[in-house]
Amino acid sequence: MKDIKIAPSILSANYAKMGEEIKNVCDNGADFIHVDVMDGNFVPNINFGMKIVSDLRPLTDKVMDVHLMIVRPERYIKEFAKAGADYITVHYEACEKPIIEVLQEIRSLGVKSAVSIKPDTRVEVLEKLLPYVDMILIMCVYPGFGGQKYIEDSTERIKKTKEMVDASGYDIRIEVDGGITLENVSIVKNAGADTIVAGSTVFKAEDKKAVIKALREN
Ligand code: DX5
Ligand code: ZN
Repeated sequence: MKDIKIAPSILSANYAKMGEEIKNVCDNGADFIHVDVMDGNFVPNINFGMKIVSDLRPLTDKVMDVHLMIVRPERYIKEFAKAGADYITVHYEACEKPIIEVLQEIRSLGVKSAVSIKPDTRVEVLEKLLPYVDMILIMCVYPGFGGQKYIEDSTERIKKTKEMVDASGYDIRIEVDGGITLENVSIVKNAGADTIVAGSTVFKAEDKKAVIKALREN
């Protein structure tokens, strides 16, 4: 079993105080900073681009985990790598170029590669991608907004992914994103998730240290 990494999603932070918000979660136990990038096209919401990554990069040594919810993410891989991403996640549904080439390009830039699937994409599509990814991100809500409810079917999808990864022998993290709370975090971990994205659960909490600890230990 891999060690558990907690990845607060800055989608739910107060953007007017972004630097402070980042320092706060980094000082209080976050392992990864999950940066959700949305283009108003792949998902209905719009937020920020690569500049947020380059501006935040000097503030922390924590792992910068960039989740691209954008159409044709291959257009921007180089720029996010240059901005300081440690992981770049692209959506299986969003690439125009063959996704294996996109994943190879991410790795060729010295960045860890990851693929994400939406709740209605079959997990079996991941099988042929296993040699090319360092992480798989299973969406547990339809991407676009923080604060949605965990889709129950996700538990089965995480289990299937974990079985597939274990059978392959590749060293791949399994990340979950969307609707993760102190109540359901043990369910996703038991199903095989080792990297836990949490937006509203962390940023709505007064005591971030306690919440991050509970996400790790529950
Ligand atoms: C969903 C994003 C998530 C989101 C999670 O579109 O990819 O990272 O911020 O937020 P919560 O934890 O509030 O569901
Ligand atoms: Zn995300």
